[in-house]
Amino acid sequence: MLCPSASRPSHKSAFPKARHNNMQGSPQEKPIRTDGRAADVSVFKGLADDTRLRLLRLLFREELNVQELASILEMGQPRVSRHLGVLRNARLVQDRREGTRVFYTLAPLSDEMGGVSAYIESLGKSEHPDLEGLGEALRRRVNDAQSFADCKAEHWDEIGRLLHNSSASLLAMARLAPTGIRIADLGTGTGLMLPFLSAMADHVYAIDHSARMLERARERCRELGIDNVTFVQRRIEALSDHLPPCDALLLHFVLHQVARPQACLKQAVQFLAPGGRLVVVDRVQHEDEKVTTTFGSLWLGFAEEQLQKWLGRAGLMDSRWYPLAGIDRSVDPHLDIFVACGSKPSATE
Ligand SMILES: C[S@@+](CC[C@H](N)C(=O)[O-])C[C@H]1O[C@@H](n2cnc3c(N)ncnc32)[C@H](O)[C@@H]1O
Repeated sequence: MLCPSASRPSHKSAFPKARHNNMQGSPQEKPIRTDGRAADVSVFKGLADDTRLRLLRLLFREELNVQELASILEMGQPRVSRHLGVLRNARLVQDRREGTRVFYTLAPLSDEMGGVSAYIESLGKSEHPDLEGLGEALRRRVNDAQSFADCKAEHWDEIGRLLHNSSASLLAMARLAPTGIRIADLGTGTGLMLPFLSAMADHVYAIDHSARMLERARERCRELGIDNVTFVQRRIEALSDHLPPCDALLLHFVLHQVARPQACLKQAVQFLAPGGRLVVVDRVQHEDEKVTTTFGSLWLGFAEEQLQKWLGRAGLMDSRWYPLAGIDRSVDPHLDIFVACGSKPSATE
């Protein structure tokens, strides 16, 4: 299918009002003016050739590389490149390098070149046998992409990992969520989650009982220009009126450090607005005693049944439990992490 013949982008640009001819080998040619339009000989030279008009027609419709243009015109690449060089010197087209390929598009033209612009537009919108070749070239691009996808489906998990970046994915998820919410990051630490939470929410409350952790978190936000975070130095269990009702609460690797996790969850839910959600991320129950010194853990992770019970007792419904090992096969099963969540009933429930 042919690319729709959308009208040409606005031709307003930094195109000089009266340009000096930049055709190689003819420096003596002076710019000429025709009824108020600034156009020089190079423009007319550019237009005075059937192959170049064919190129302009195609480039009006689509950005194409030299190879594609050569195959549509059924000409050798050097010949096509030569013609493109003339058009580029006339500043009727511009090029862009993509690795070893050079792509061409129409150059934006100034208002004073309106006549030339209108001519190219009518050329681009006219029917011509080359448009069939253009359709084929574009189909080839789609087919190449599709064949590649078909070919690589089996190995995409490994290839995808080369591109995937957990921060980029988190940021994307943050931007996918509806905005306008208020979030509290309970036990924010150095604020590793704040760049994502602040992208997601109108306002974030970063809570921690450690002044030094909070100082780091503040520094991070300052460096990143994040200005929608309020920092509160307080124990979660003693927040009382230091936190307004929030739409979402996060406990990201915090619960294992809390003296009374069940009571802490119950307390946190007090700050959840009706319909709001609490999310806990932590390690699944394990037996690795070393965590006490490495992570300051008081608890060796949490079991699904236990956590779901606590969420229910805290007054949350629809609780869910997602073990990471089920989703990501690269996760060491001994270091499994879970994401659990529950919602506070809305005012009508
Ligand atoms: C392991 S760090 C995690 C920090 C951050 N959420 C992250 O994922 O990078 C746990 C943080 O929770 C804080 N914390 C632990 N218990 C807390 C409590 N009862 N009230 C407030 N902060 C607490 C600690 O000071 C520490 O900064």
